[in-house]
Amino acid sequence: MTKKYKIVVLPGDGIGQEVVPQALKALKAVEEKNKGINFEFIEYPCGGQYWLKNGKKEEWPAETYEVCQKESDAILLGAIGWTNPDGTTVSYPDGKMVGLNILFGLRFGLDLYANIRPTKLYEGVPHKISGEFRQIWKPENVDFVVIRENTEGLYSDTHGKLDRGGKVEIATDTRLITRKGSERVINFAFDYCTQRNKGSPSDGKLRVTCIDKSNVTAGCKLFRQIYQEIAKHYPEIEQDYAFIDAFTQWIIRNPEWYDVGVVPNMFGDIATDLAAVLQGSMGMAASGNVGDEKGMFEPIHGSAPRHAGKNEANPMAAILSAHMLLDWLGNRNNDINLKNGAKQVERAIEEILKEGKIKTYDLGGSSKTSEVGDAIASRIKSF
Ligand code: IPM
Ligand code: MG
Repeated sequence: MTKKYKIVVLPGDGIGQEVVPQALKALKAVEEKNKGINFEFIEYPCGGQYWLKNGKKEEWPAETYEVCQKESDAILLGAIGWTNPDGTTVSYPDGKMVGLNILFGLRFGLDLYANIRPTKLYEGVPHKISGEFRQIWKPENVDFVVIRENTEGLYSDTHGKLDRGGKVEIATDTRLITRKGSERVINFAFDYCTQRNKGSPSDGKLRVTCIDKSNVTAGCKLFRQIYQEIAKHYPEIEQDYAFIDAFTQWIIRNPEWYDVGVVPNMFGDIATDLAAVLQGSMGMAASGNVGDEKGMFEPIHGSAPRHAGKNEANPMAAILSAHMLLDWLGNRNNDINLKNGAKQVERAIEEILKEGKIKTYDLGGSSKTSEVGDAIASRIKSF
């Protein structure tokens, strides 16, 4: 009997509600195309808009976390966070963004310690730099993956403030870097590099770059030390080091050097938004948050209130996140059908970008979100 995979779908806020349905079209096309794939999609509303709509009672229906934890085979998320009409972020009275409990609840609660963020440039994608679309980097030179630590660092819940007579005088965020947290994500990066088996575009060598600020911070010194301990067990992978500040210029000047990088949490957050420029747009940047048991896949862009409700956002990051979901689920379950499905999704995107007719505004086109989703789904069915 064919196994049924339960996918929890959390479109969330803003353009999340427009791009996730396109990713679902791709997943349904894969299901239709490949015998032996059977999905059950369970969708929940969530985020700032949902909170406003239900009278500020809840960020997501009460059972959602438990369903994610106990029943999901994988989770697909759109975007979290919304803005008020005056431009401020929809927040709780204490200033915390509404929706963060969902994102961090899942990342921390399900222990999704590795955030896989591929930076891959597809043929036909131009770069919009300073108002103009140009071809700057060559597709064959941009193909690396950043593994961002996802459960500690500056994102650990160790914030504090000193309140004197109603005025906040001091605010602190403790950057927590642990041996366990570093070991598991660095091991993950080396294993990922081995399995990916692509190497750096510049010389074909398998390489894991340790990205840190170990010339200054104690946490990064520990991170780098653990990297060196682990690297010894992977003699076939080249060791490589970059301080985060230098890394941000090297990936722009010399992206072809990089294969896989591993980086503490917030540095990874910042570096991968920058890396999205190499991919043409935030609308192309996908990610997977994975742990030993669970996986949640999401585009790295936000809810983009300015573009929401206009059917103009680029759904490719969400569809590429669905591609990552299929690949991860396929590996986990040793399911060749899912792995084939993953390949079909990427191939459809590759072909459509290369042809250059269907693309959203961020890539210099005028296609609608739903048109891109339809084109990708029908391409998958045509294979
Ligand atoms: C990301 C986002 C989140 C993060 C925000 C929405 C909290 O920027 O996934 O990169 O900082 O992790
Ligand atoms: Mg980010």
